[in-house]
Amino acid sequence: MTAMLIKKGKVRDIYEVNEDKLLLVASDRISAFDFILPTDIPNKGKMLTEMSAFWFKKTSSIINNHFISSDYGEIMRVLKGDCPGEFEGRSMLVKKARRINFECIVRGYLSGSGWEIYKRKGWVCGIKLPAGLLEAEKLPEPIFTPTTKADEGHDENVPFKKMCDVLGCQTAQIIKEKSIELYLFASKYMEERGIILADTKFEFGLIGGELSLIDEIFTPDSSRFWEKATYQKGKNPRSYDKQFVRDWLKSLDWDKKSPPPPLPADIVEKTAELYMKAMEVMKR
Ligand SMILES: Nc1ncnc2c1ncn2[C@@H]1O[C@H](COP(=O)(O)OP(=O)(O)O)[C@@H](O)[C@H]1O
Ligand SMILES: [Mg+2]
Repeated sequence: MTAMLIKKGKVRDIYEVNEDKLLLVASDRISAFDFILPTDIPNKGKMLTEMSAFWFKKTSSIINNHFISSDYGEIMRVLKGDCPGEFEGRSMLVKKARRINFECIVRGYLSGSGWEIYKRKGWVCGIKLPAGLLEAEKLPEPIFTPTTKADEGHDENVPFKKMCDVLGCQTAQIIKEKSIELYLFASKYMEERGIILADTKFEFGLIGGELSLIDEIFTPDSSRFWEKATYQKGKNPRSYDKQFVRDWLKSLDWDKKSPPPPLPADIVEKTAELYMKAMEVMKR
């Protein structure tokens, strides 16, 4: 392939196409606790690509995004036939952006690192929350809890003020408002189809100077999807995302510092099944 591989992310390989475009090729790799696990989840890359494509099309009236096409025929035309067959279904042609280096997280429910901080301090990212909330409890309203986007190592929570300082308050405010609007839009859609969108992460960038949504959107890699039918506050919800893998890793005596162990076949199978369920919600 003549398109040049410019970066290998944890999950996706990024090729540059004609200077102003990128081909994001989603592998079957899975990451957890900032590690790429040594075992692939079959078809995961295809599922992620399909979900992101669906949501980029559905949300384009809320905000401009980088999506051009995930259709292999179309991609082949743009690449003049020079695209390997194994990329079919897992590739997305996008407009190259100047990335804004924050992960824009919206939380509608208290879970993961948000819950961990709340338990200790009573607030998340400088946002004071009511006392006595339980794990997985719904928040009075969705909150915006950005982190830094680090190419190496851990992302760190930052107060909104930090985003204002770096990007200017006007841009930071638009990003916050759009993030919450996108979250509310998708969570309503999903909830009507039996899934709670507990939280999610967006990335933004500038395309031709215009603020745009980039990366992936509303996938189980970037979001927590909970089963609505069995949801109960105070309990670890059944989720259609990689929480299952995280929980399995936590049950081992792995130190989260050395390379993670391979996933057993039943865990791989179950995880692939959960990603499938997350995808089915779009088709209901
Ligand atoms: N339109 C875009 N322009 C520039 N960079 C992008 C665009 N869309 C996504 N990216 C970047 O491409 C990478 C996608 O690969 P991924 O495997 O998710 O990497 P990471 O390990 O950073 O999560 C991310 O670093 C993301 O910020
Ligand atoms: Mg990523």
